[in-house]
Amino acid sequence: MAPQDLVPHDNDFRVPSASRRSFLSLAAGASAALAFRIVTEPMLAHARVHNVPKDAIRIDANENPLGPCAPAREAAAAIVSQGGRYSDWLTDDLVKMLAEMEGLKPEQVLVYAGSSEPLHHTVAAFSSPQRSYVTADPGYEAGMFAAQAMGAKVVKVPLTKTYAHDVKAMLAAAPDAGVFYVCSPNNPTGTLTSHSDIEYLVENKPKGSVVLVDEAYIHFSDAVSVMDLVRAGKDVILLRTFSKLYGMAGLRCGAAFARTDLLEKLENYGGWNFKPITALVAASASLKDAQLVPERKHINATIRSQVFDWLDRNGYSYIPSQSNCFMLDTKRPAKAAIDAMAKQNVIIGRIWPIWPTYTRITVGTGPEMEQFQAAWQKVMTGAVTASVGAVPGLGELPRKRNRDGITIET
Ligand SMILES: Cc1ncc(COP(=O)(O)O)c(C=O)c1O
Repeated sequence: MAPQDLVPHDNDFRVPSASRRSFLSLAAGASAALAFRIVTEPMLAHARVHNVPKDAIRIDANENPLGPCAPAREAAAAIVSQGGRYSDWLTDDLVKMLAEMEGLKPEQVLVYAGSSEPLHHTVAAFSSPQRSYVTADPGYEAGMFAAQAMGAKVVKVPLTKTYAHDVKAMLAAAPDAGVFYVCSPNNPTGTLTSHSDIEYLVENKPKGSVVLVDEAYIHFSDAVSVMDLVRAGKDVILLRTFSKLYGMAGLRCGAAFARTDLLEKLENYGGWNFKPITALVAASASLKDAQLVPERKHINATIRSQVFDWLDRNGYSYIPSQSNCFMLDTKRPAKAAIDAMAKQNVIIGRIWPIWPTYTRITVGTGPEMEQFQAAWQKVMTGAVTASVGAVPGLGELPRKRNRDGITIET
């Protein structure tokens, strides 16, 4: 073999077409990729505060206390010894599996280390000073930060009376929109937006815009997915994550589903081609576990309805949810209730300025929610207030700007 045969030529790269596209478009996307940071739920919640007592109940960041399922843990543990290899074919394996499950071509699926990255990249690709970013209020805020970084106008549209996205108002509010962000079930309310409403948005949106549908929490709910709109080749980018029902927030795996030409635009914003192999095999093992989604959906729904029954019996108001979180009315500026709960070692939150007396509660385990209830009773009956005593460290909970430099309401 001649020495030159050992050197790969451009054409010899045995890379999947998606990776090849990213490689080729690297120059175009490089400056944009540097323009913003990826903002995630723990950066917005208290979850990144280090000095919270170890025995605290943490129901503030929509994490899954069950963690990865047993087959996922086994698969992740078994592959650690191969951690010296890039093993990028594992990404292709997961892409193929997801594509088969969803009736798509592999080119219509991109796997990421979580769904935050494709969320930000979609916003970056389709919003600009000329093309607004439209989102629900209250809604998941991460995309707003990317829109702001792109110089785009952020248009927040209140939810309807039934806590769905008000798609007609969203269309009317921004005829110049580049991205309509729809999260169903919504973070923080856990409420659904119907398939027909999302379809209406897709059919009536301005030319050149996309509907970014975030199905991070769909596995907990009875919502009808809009994957059929992706299959039909509509201007829809759909996100899923393994961070929620699958309990893999720390392992990091998620995916974007869309027409190939839309995914190509996301890839202009870069990203890391290699995913953690532990996450890839854990995700594949989770998908093969046919009982996992129904079992965990049932566990979450059972605990959630027990909490709702208790809240009803005690006269506390909340917004009924189909997810692993819900909004609870504190009947006062919610920060006081959050601080009073923290004094009892129960970390809740966050607050959305549009509903200043409400705070979000994540559904934890049964025992965790019993502790939540006991603490909540004390806060609401005035037995514990924010000004009594102090828990070491919790005085440091983020106020206006947290340690990521993000301004949040607490
Ligand atoms: C609605 C929604 N989308 C996306 C994400 C991103 O999660 P991850 O990057 O862990 O997939 C979150 C995290 O909480 C979320 O709540």
